[in-house]
Amino acid sequence: MASETQPGNSAGRGSRTAHDDGGPAPTGGVDVAGARVFVTGVTGFLGTALAKRLVDEGATVSGLARATSARATRRWLRHLGVTLVEGDLAADRADPHALARAVDGHDLVVHSAAVIGYRRRQRGLMARTNVGGTRRVVDACLAADVPRLLHVSSIAAVGVTDEPVLLDEDADWTAGVLDAAYFDTKHEAEGEVRRGLARGLDAVLVNPAAIYGPSQVPANSSNVVRQILAGRLGLVPPSGVNVVPLDTVVEGCLAAAARGRTGRRYILGGENLWLHELVKRVGAAGGLDLAPRLLPTRLGGVARALAELVEPWVPDRVWFTPDMLAVFGRWMWFDTGRAERELGVVPGDLDACLRATVEQVRAG
Ligand SMILES: NC(=O)c1ccc[n+]([C@@H]2O[C@H](COP(=O)([O-])OP(=O)(O)OC[C@H]3O[C@@H](n4cnc5c(N)ncnc54)[C@H](OP(=O)(O)O)[C@@H]3O)[C@@H](O)[C@H]2O)c1
Repeated sequence: MASETQPGNSAGRGSRTAHDDGGPAPTGGVDVAGARVFVTGVTGFLGTALAKRLVDEGATVSGLARATSARATRRWLRHLGVTLVEGDLAADRADPHALARAVDGHDLVVHSAAVIGYRRRQRGLMARTNVGGTRRVVDACLAADVPRLLHVSSIAAVGVTDEPVLLDEDADWTAGVLDAAYFDTKHEAEGEVRRGLARGLDAVLVNPAAIYGPSQVPANSSNVVRQILAGRLGLVPPSGVNVVPLDTVVEGCLAAAARGRTGRRYILGGENLWLHELVKRVGAAGGLDLAPRLLPTRLGGVARALAELVEPWVPDRVWFTPDMLAVFGRWMWFDTGRAERELGVVPGDLDACLRATVEQVRAG
């Protein structure tokens, strides 16, 4: 791993919870103002937004970037004052000590890097990155005695239901039935964090819902917005998803770092919407009066079987995949009460967020 710029910070450790035995704090909380924070996935949709907010809060920020990470994003991050360290979390032959050296001396590590994929051919990559990468981050934090790890998980690791009911952080994981690698690997990544906790790591987990919002790096959800605005979602599955503004997730990450209880998960969600409602709300944000129709539930199995049959020949740019169809007739609706009660995170205004997202998508 090579540092692209030298860490230019003289700040000491942040508000690490006092503990005098040299081991990880049992319930550490890190207030990011004045803290040294290392972010994996800093070149991504959430990572860039987090980096901006951390810098605004007075943190000294470093982060992991790959040799292949977009040049424009690296330039933007360096301009922001972020120190970039080069490394690849999926590289099997990477020096195991390099990541520990990179995170050493930081008050907080935010592990946001992951591959979000809905292609079966990406299963191996997702296992190496999402599970193996989390293992490497956990081991590095343990080796460097990092006071706190904030692991960015997902509602995919909490579960899905086949009825419109709400799940909370204590739900049994049921998403294995989907046989979708992103869900499986985000679930297994949490297992890696639990392994670290058992070895004394102070870690807290956040589980964001589907994140919408404008950012330096556009999200997968911006693609959904583009498809909706182009009128390509006139027929939608009878399904539901929780949709959260990006700002709420950033707020939730900082709040969980500062006040989250060790070993605890916090769902960072917004509104529980049927997919056809989401299409209408995105349309309204763009000044369109859309009236999507529901596909019959029984079509779900057939559609997925057909998609599986043709998937090997379908190029990556086609975003409708068997793994996406797996949520046909299923709900990812969540109770966000714990984050509100324990972290004070109140979901932001989704319509304002959708309007800003539409504006960014239209601006190209
Ligand atoms: N977006 C959502 O709606 C959503 C919802 C719930 C949870 N999450 C979680 O939030 C986190 C961030 O998601 P995102 O939307 O920001 O995703 P993203 O825009 O795709 O960013 C992914 C980040 O991970 C990095 N990365 C991927 N493979 C890596 C590797 N092998 N080594 C090092 N870095 C690697 C990417 O680096 P490059 O720039 O080099 O590609 C990028 O910085 C993920 O953990 C995701 O599971 C996202």
